[in-house]
Amino acid sequence: MPLSKRKRLRDFLYDQGVDGALRGLINEIGEASKYISYAIDTTSLGYSGSVNVYGEKQLALDVLSDEIVSEKLGMCGIVKNMASEEQENINSAFLSEPGEYSVCFDPLDGSSLVDVNLAVGTIVSIYPGKQLVRPGREQVAALYVLYGPRTTMVVGLPSGVHEFSLDAVGSYTLSRPDIKMKDVGNIYSPGGSRNQYLPAHKDFIDSLLADNYKLRYSGGFVPDFNQVLMKGGGLFTYPALKNAPNGKLRLMFECNAMAFIVEVAGGAASNGKQRILDIEPESIEMRSPIYIGSKKEVARAEKMLAEQVSSD
Ligand code: AHG
Ligand code: MN
Ligand code: MN
Repeated sequence: MPLSKRKRLRDFLYDQGVDGALRGLINEIGEASKYISYAIDTTSLGYSGSVNVYGEKQLALDVLSDEIVSEKLGMCGIVKNMASEEQENINSAFLSEPGEYSVCFDPLDGSSLVDVNLAVGTIVSIYPGKQLVRPGREQVAALYVLYGPRTTMVVGLPSGVHEFSLDAVGSYTLSRPDIKMKDVGNIYSPGGSRNQYLPAHKDFIDSLLADNYKLRYSGGFVPDFNQVLMKGGGLFTYPALKNAPNGKLRLMFECNAMAFIVEVAGGAASNGKQRILDIEPESIEMRSPIYIGSKKEVARAEKMLAEQVSSD
């Protein structure tokens, strides 16, 4: 199909009945992603010398990606408040009138994979109004950008999940409408070190192996989750570990966006006990274990973890 005939992101959102401000916000994030994609190609791969609120050393790319997203969203006049995985506090946007939405974002997830040339991503949760520390079920939209062999943006709206690809003239055009998850799959993406697994999680992973699930793990949440979503089934997990009882991934900056997307696509996302989207955040930087993908695998994890608790 000629480039000019493909449905562009802004037009598709309009057809979906998305309001003007939200259309503008999603497009602003798309614009920011183009600068991040350029930064990935051109920025030094070294450390910036600073650490984030998690005490993780920041790469120059983490800091630059964070600046790109923060500036774009700060100046667009649509965002009221924004919180970044790479910054300590919630910031009010510079031009925050009318400020109809607030966002949480991870500007560059998996950034340490750039120097081994593996795929990385940007993750964004969008909430109505100015409140940010709230359950993920209150999101009005969520999206991620995947910087891989192709640069794609997967947008979750209450009405559906859709993938857009960045084309040769710098436009995001519709490449996969209405993405759906099957109830069961055959791939699994197991984060964390096996020697740190808790007994019930180890039994769960072994049960997937016994059922011939194929291992698919790159170390990047965005490409690893994207593979489960695009293959239409399977499971990604980053569990509670002996040395990390709340797991590694951040509820507000990573888990909530993917949980929103997977549920709209017909899948499920749990912390092993409850729905990710129902978790009342204690703080904006809290971490959460995550089991995300097809309903059957998530339910199996919850069942096996519950049996462990009851037999303890
Ligand atoms: P970030 O780069 O934003 O800190 O996130 C990295 C995360 C996530 O992308 C991935 O699933 C996880 O780290 C991998 O952790 P391990 O290196 O412990 O496997
Ligand atoms: Mn991350
Ligand atoms: Mn990050």
